Amino acid sequence: MDHVIAIDGPAGSGKSTVARAVADQLGWSFLDTGAMYRAITALALRTNVDVHDHDAMAALASGVVIETVPATVIDGIDVSDEIRSAPVNDAVSVVASQPLVRAAMVRRQQEWAKRQPRGTVVEGRDITTVVFPNAVVKVYLTASLEERSRRRVDEDVTSVSRRDQIDSNRPSSPLRQADDALYIDTTGRAIASVVEEIVTCLNQRS
Ligand code: CDP
Repeated sequence: MDHVIAIDGPAGSGKSTVARAVADQLGWSFLDTGAMYRAITALALRTNVDVHDHDAMAALASGVVIETVPATVIDGIDVSDEIRSAPVNDAVSVVASQPLVRAAMVRRQQEWAKRQPRGTVVEGRDITTVVFPNAVVKVYLTASLEERSRRRVDEDVTSVSRRDQIDSNRPSSPLRQADDALYIDTTGRAIASVVEEIVTCLNQRS
């Protein structure tokens, strides 16, 4: 897919910041797929749906309307602040480990990309491996755990490591580096230099 740049990586690796900046530079759109998993989790917690109940979560995931730009809105409720709360941090990886929830989200993400008139930069955990394996540029972004938790002012190191652990070890679409992805360690690097590396890679391929 020549109009998709796919970025995966663990919590706090800088995916959202870098993806947004690459999209801005190219005049492309940007999709934060983590916000989608967070939005469903927030709605479940609000409406007392058991996040461990796979059938109930699948029904929720396939029935809702989710927007992530300019705010994260689910079924008309703005959850932009709520999705960064501790209860959502604690439950989101459990929700995201459920295959039926993932199938509903992946379908939405692929349909969304098709509707983008120019290109789009999409970031998450399974974007290079499952959602857009044929993206023109695939990136695996990471940084040391110390630096990643320092960047997450709203989340402590235990919570970040716990999410990493669940996201990397789940049977359904675990976080892993795609064989042909560009590996970028952002520890101690300026955002602008990472953005430049990705844009240069795109220019070499198109
Ligand atoms: O911003 P951060 O990297 O901390 O996380 P996020 O991108 O907001 O994603 C929150 C959670 O959603 C992750 O810990 C994963 O459990 C899940 N997720 C996923 O499974 N697949 C994606 N494509 C995106 C997020």
